[in-house]
Amino acid sequence: MDGVTVIDHPLVQHKLTIMRKKETSTASFRRLLREISTLLCYEVTRNLDLTTIRIETPMEAMDAPVLEGKKLVFASILRAGNGLLEGMLDLVPAARVAHIGLYRDHETLQPVEYYFKAPDDLADRLVIVVDPMLATANSAIAAMDKLKERGARNIRFLCLLAAPEGVERFCAAHPDIPVFTAAIDSHLNDKGYIVPGLGDAGDRMYGTK
Ligand code: PRP
Ligand code: URA
Repeated sequence: MDGVTVIDHPLVQHKLTIMRKKETSTASFRRLLREISTLLCYEVTRNLDLTTIRIETPMEAMDAPVLEGKKLVFASILRAGNGLLEGMLDLVPAARVAHIGLYRDHETLQPVEYYFKAPDDLADRLVIVVDPMLATANSAIAAMDKLKERGARNIRFLCLLAAPEGVERFCAAHPDIPVFTAAIDSHLNDKGYIVPGLGDAGDRMYGTK
């Protein structure tokens, strides 16, 4: 599918399988999500632009590569996005962070917004939005709408698991935003859960069910 990258690295796939297992504990689930997020971060940032700066090594001067442009923004869709955010920040500690508070109404499956805080200058930065689950895509679409309304123009979306229905809806709504995911599962069930999936990511991360 155009604009969608499935990150099929063996370590990602192995860790994801353990996360899916229903007997995996909250502590293990959270640790694995943090580990996996560093691997996903590596892939989602793979083609960032570089420039060079003049440095002195102990041997001689050289023009050495560094990331070009302003610091990245990682935008976490709360709550579960924070599970990806932590590992991403381990790898890119200077990144700026946006928080987008959204939860899915269980009856309507529509997102309810309760918080938004982001750097002012989104227009000048690459924004990488993180949320482990892309199910109906209602939450991700709403998050992108909000970020674009606040000026973001260069956005990528990183998730762990996606439903084919969600990928299709997301790409139709925001064809300019590339999607990165570790897997695209079979389908959504009648309650809007990804099947086979891993259950409710927020509840599994925080032990709230
Ligand atoms: C989950 C998940 C996504 C959303 C995906 O969050 O983290 O944000 O559902 O579903 P969608 O694609 O159908 O919108 P949830 O609403 O359960 O909130 P939480 O992270 O606070 O648990
Ligand atoms: N949100 C989740 O946490 N899991 C799903 O399967 C769908 C939405």
